[in-house]
Amino acid sequence: MNRSRISLVTLAQQAIAEVLGAGEHAVDATAGNGHDTVFLARTVGAAGRVTALDIQPNARAATRRRLQEHDLLAPVQLIASGHETMADHVAGPIRAAMFNLGYLPGGDKTVTTRAETSLRGLAAACRLLAPGGRISVMVYTGHPGGDAEHDAVLRFLGGLDDNWRWQRANPPGLPASAPQLFLLDLGKH
Ligand SMILES: C[S@@+](CC[C@H](N)C(=O)[O-])C[C@H]1O[C@@H](n2cnc3c(N)ncnc32)[C@H](O)[C@@H]1O
Repeated sequence: MNRSRISLVTLAQQAIAEVLGAGEHAVDATAGNGHDTVFLARTVGAAGRVTALDIQPNARAATRRRLQEHDLLAPVQLIASGHETMADHVAGPIRAAMFNLGYLPGGDKTVTTRAETSLRGLAAACRLLAPGGRISVMVYTGHPGGDAEHDAVLRFLGGLDDNWRWQRANPPGLPASAPQLFLLDLGKH
């Protein structure tokens, strides 16, 4: 695979596909326009489950539309709430979670994820993740609050205990201003 030629979104999905299979449960922590939700629903199939959260009604509508277009609504539960409330909606364990932070492409750029709630969502996903599972986190720095959110995510990763392995998964050659993709793996015990 030529990692420098594929998008970070594709890279994140490929990394999640390495651990997620049919019949499993995954979380899309930022449903947005539904691209990751569609990918997760397709991967877990009709016997699996995807919990997708977004605080914006237009994001949830876009996600529902995209799922309908692909006939993939069945395994998905769309939640009108922030990922910081994930534990209220997901009993766990989950095999994977995807966070694609920042603002909704094509939407209101002033509505962004925020460091404090993103960390609460991440902490919740970490508690729900099954051993052998994986979390992807895409962080953008080009908007107000983005740098602070990136630094907060890094501090969070630095505080994970020895059961976790994490990596910055950007291919070499991307500019420093590019989004940053982090992958977190929970070891098998
Ligand atoms: C970059 S977009 C996500 C793109 C999406 N993964 C896709 O595939 O289209 C970020 C989304 O996070 C949502 N968001 C902001 N704060 C949130 C929160 N606390 N919980 C869940 N979603 C949130 C925004 O409404 C926006 O739709």
